[in-house]
Amino acid sequence: MKKFPTSSEFAAQANTNPEKYAQLYQQSIESDESNEAFWAKRAELVDWIKKPTKIKDINYDLDDFRIKWFEDGELNVSVNCLDRHLVDNPYKPAIIWEGDHPSLHKIISFKELHSEVCRLGNAMRKMGVGKGDRVALYLPMVPEAVVSMLACARIGAVHTVVFGGFSAESLASRIVDSQAKLVITADEGVRGNRYSPLKTNVDRALDVDGTECVEKVIVVHRTGNSVPMSGRRDVWYHTVIDNSNEDCPPETMNAEDPLFLLYTSGSTGKPKGVVHSTGGYLTYALSTFRDVFDVKEDDVFWCTADVGWITGHSYVTYGPLANGTTTVMFEGVPQYPTWARIGQIIDKHDVSILYTAPTAIRAMMKEGDAFVRESNRESLRLLGTVGEPINPEAWDWYHSVVGEGRCPIVDTWWQTETGGILMAPLPNSVDMKPGAAMNPLYGIKPVIVDSDGVELEDAAAGNLIISDGWPGQMRTIYGDHKRFLETYYTTYPGSYFTGDGAMRDEDGHYWITGRVDDVLNVSGHRIGTAEIESALVSHPAAAETAIVGMPHELKGQGICAYVILRHGEEDSERLRGELNRHVRAEIGPIANLDAIYVVDALPKTRSGKIMRRILRKLAAGEFDGLGDTSTLAEASVVDDLIKTVKSA
Ligand code: WTA
Repeated sequence: MKKFPTSSEFAAQANTNPEKYAQLYQQSIESDESNEAFWAKRAELVDWIKKPTKIKDINYDLDDFRIKWFEDGELNVSVNCLDRHLVDNPYKPAIIWEGDHPSLHKIISFKELHSEVCRLGNAMRKMGVGKGDRVALYLPMVPEAVVSMLACARIGAVHTVVFGGFSAESLASRIVDSQAKLVITADEGVRGNRYSPLKTNVDRALDVDGTECVEKVIVVHRTGNSVPMSGRRDVWYHTVIDNSNEDCPPETMNAEDPLFLLYTSGSTGKPKGVVHSTGGYLTYALSTFRDVFDVKEDDVFWCTADVGWITGHSYVTYGPLANGTTTVMFEGVPQYPTWARIGQIIDKHDVSILYTAPTAIRAMMKEGDAFVRESNRESLRLLGTVGEPINPEAWDWYHSVVGEGRCPIVDTWWQTETGGILMAPLPNSVDMKPGAAMNPLYGIKPVIVDSDGVELEDAAAGNLIISDGWPGQMRTIYGDHKRFLETYYTTYPGSYFTGDGAMRDEDGHYWITGRVDDVLNVSGHRIGTAEIESALVSHPAAAETAIVGMPHELKGQGICAYVILRHGEEDSERLRGELNRHVRAEIGPIANLDAIYVVDALPKTRSGKIMRRILRKLAAGEFDGLGDTSTLAEASVVDDLIKTVKSA
């Protein structure tokens, strides 16, 4: 297997080395006391109003379940991201914002960001929003998104960011579940010169039953195209900012108070509101950001994720800003105006660390090297990936073409639930293997188990669980603690179940092999098959459906739908187009159906369970070796399916 040592250029300035990593890792997991001491030390990176005296209280026994970190500590996250940097570095850029069109950019210093956050915090307080109230953010990648997150943190409100690519229906269900009091949105979003009707979607969402909780809507003026404003409910962002002062005392928060909710897909049912804490989450986002990205004072850090995802929370907003690092926010897409854009932005803003998703790397790679070579990328020193396994070809290309062989790549594995990165080859700690997340971060204890929960030692493949805890771990599912315990702490008693499979090789390095549940990973975005199925059968022509993932050259995984039509409906290209549009409208464009097969029956066991294994194989174009089909209620179904898929 090919291994890539760290370039000598990088090694010469790296924050760690193999011996240091091994020593500190060992120390961080050796015993309960040393683990606790390690986290106590990490908590010193945070400015506390009241320093915690209790570090960790974890019990995964379902009778007496507890997850508490720094439980008697008090702090304010916005103070950590802003105020504390004003002493030495008030004019350092906090956000470099690059607009959709290359002619647009804005540089916002920590002082300016602080002032705007305080103004918005005061305006929200005046509207009656306070500690513990939920605020839904439905925004494009504009600085106001970060301002809104931090303004919530300042006054103790709990934000729930809803990705701007989600539909009005998806927004409504998140508002209903979280019972948000306030929504912050924009007139429109712009990506790749295409406009999305955010305010109109909010209006539609607020027509849905159960959204009466929303008292006010603050609207950012982004494109200036006219949007309906409803008299008492809707107010312009710039008006509320102009009418507020910048003296906004931060709310004192307990470490265990929630900082935010973020909805993510599970293998069953509706998306769940993952709850993250104030003290533990901040400690974890802050310290993993330092460790994984080898951070230095003058770094310009660019994470391309949208703030609507956990990656945007931890590594666009909280991790960098809590460290006082300049964070780049990009509103647009890699292909607009041309595929040279990513390189141009790196040169324009002297980006030193680029953190992006394999799906974007594959798309750029497909367009050829010439676009990337339009830039010189001399400022780059480190690369990162996140969200899905990276195939070795894409890794190689990222390393040799984008990073010109001198930049290490951190392949970071983690989840919405984990709050921050759990595994990555820390820069200069190990020779990198393309496609492997390699090593656990400090304090993290991964375990591979078989389906009976028996721990597998040495080189092995199985399900990935994490024993013990870490400060960034999720605390509950909003409003459904029972589902939280069932989903994560029941399958393998005493450990957190990740839902991922993993392999440990002869050298002890970890490779994530993908989800072992019914969650798909499309372009690095999580989406549950159950969610898509319920959206699809809400179309009047669809009677029954099964969704599975299929290999997709660019997206990693595509969505494949098998549909049984209602009596009297006939298969046609037009109908299939309509079914796809329906699902996209229900969930959002990320739920695009890449293949639709209209079938007469689904392969079911005698007990009525759909054999997804067969459907997945067929969707991947594998018609032989379908495995044991003896439990099928009707064996002929498979032959019919093969015919349908082959003739499509
Ligand atoms: C997958 C994104 C392989 C994994 C931060 C996980 C990865 C899911 C990697 C979480 C990686 C994330 N290599 N697979 N480096 N990073 N995944 O919640 O299946 O959107 O469970 O969090 O993405 O996706 P989520």
